[in-house]
Amino acid sequence: MDRIRIRGGNRLNGTIDISGAKNAALPLMITALLTPETLTLHNVPRLVDVLRLQKILGNHGVDIMTAGKRAGQNGGAGETLRISAKTIVDTTAPYDLVSKMRASFWVLGPLIARMGEAKVSLPGGCAIGTRPVDLHLLVMEKLGATCDVEQGYVIARAKHGLKGGHITFPKVSVGATHAALMAAVLAHGDTIIENAATEPEIGDVAECLNKMGAKIEGIHTKTLRITGVTSLKGAEHTVIADRIETGTYAMSAAMTGGDVLLRGARADTLENPLLLLERTGVTVERNNEGIRIKRNGSALQPVDIITDPYPGFPTDLQAQFMGLMTMAKGTSHIRETIFENRFMHVQELARLGADIHLHGDMAEVRGVKKLTGADVMATDLRASVSLVIAGLAAEGETMLHRVYHLDRGFEALEDKLSACGADVERLSGS
Ligand code: UD1
Repeated sequence: MDRIRIRGGNRLNGTIDISGAKNAALPLMITALLTPETLTLHNVPRLVDVLRLQKILGNHGVDIMTAGKRAGQNGGAGETLRISAKTIVDTTAPYDLVSKMRASFWVLGPLIARMGEAKVSLPGGCAIGTRPVDLHLLVMEKLGATCDVEQGYVIARAKHGLKGGHITFPKVSVGATHAALMAAVLAHGDTIIENAATEPEIGDVAECLNKMGAKIEGIHTKTLRITGVTSLKGAEHTVIADRIETGTYAMSAAMTGGDVLLRGARADTLENPLLLLERTGVTVERNNEGIRIKRNGSALQPVDIITDPYPGFPTDLQAQFMGLMTMAKGTSHIRETIFENRFMHVQELARLGADIHLHGDMAEVRGVKKLTGADVMATDLRASVSLVIAGLAAEGETMLHRVYHLDRGFEALEDKLSACGADVERLSGS
């Protein structure tokens, strides 16, 4: 198993190119199931989760090519995927594939919409709470499908196709909003989705669906109106920049000090975290190329955050912000309201010398003057990168174990950080 070794203390200076967003690329790839024509996606990040989804889609009969080769056969450099679901040969998504990545459960909607049936294993993914799928089932039922859960599988049927419906979400869910959109575009009649999630990745998928011939109005708002169409066609789309990767490197630069340009970043998709970052004393410059983050010697001020659905502070940046606050000059409070078990990084940060106390859904982070390198373990995707941020500022050597969590969501992390002067190295094997 790979490990990442960080020798802390170097400031970051230079340019980091921001990749396409994982959380947009995955649902975009899944939308390809809705058409027999080819969907071409540019700027797809080379991540383990993307490769896993390719396998899952392949199981349904989807053909995926990149730069004239089959995806995964070009040394990981390909960024453009041509996805063709000409014939769907299997409507079952089995446990061994779906259990590794929660987003793969989202094939449910498109499979029923196009094929009238689907059998999808209940999902896995990061261990950050119970993560039910009740809202996904609500969507399918509101659109006229019957859903049964049997032996760990959701079996959904709509023999005569889905029908438009009125969906009001009792709770904001990114995945369930994607599911509703992907199912409703091919339903007979009109659908209204209220209390929809407004994360930028949902807007990105909705725009791609409209390029494919869907009729979605209200994109980027909490109410989406969809007029069902009988078929969708192929299209070409570029995946939006990853705001979580952007925020992560912004916090890395803030943690170490220095001057880093996050090239290609979209400031408009992470205004809340950027404003909070400014309140810590960091200079944030939004320009034509992206976002520039600077900190020169000034102490980090403590700032309180509460995670919330978009446009609030993203839960996917909570761990990283906590990493940053471990060295603030004072005490900050971090409340997690989206997932109930998303503080697993606390005990690992403590191994580096952080002083953090948990009170239910709130972490009290008392800033310390120094962190010291240690062996730490990645527990989930975003938690693992908070350890990288802390390790970059810790004295001595930090060894991050279970790096596979990181590889699910961060493309070429060690290369991007090293290019800016960090001492970060991947060690292969155990
Ligand atoms: C997506 C993101 C993930 C991010 C999360 C919240 C992707 C691939 N993943 O995950 O990175 O952390 O949004 O921004 O885009 N819930 C239910 N019932 C359901 C579905 C969800 O109760 O049927 C709850 C969840 O347990 C959680 C909350 O709703 O408490 C939000 O979850 P959701 O927005 O659905 O997260 P994901 O779509 O899984």
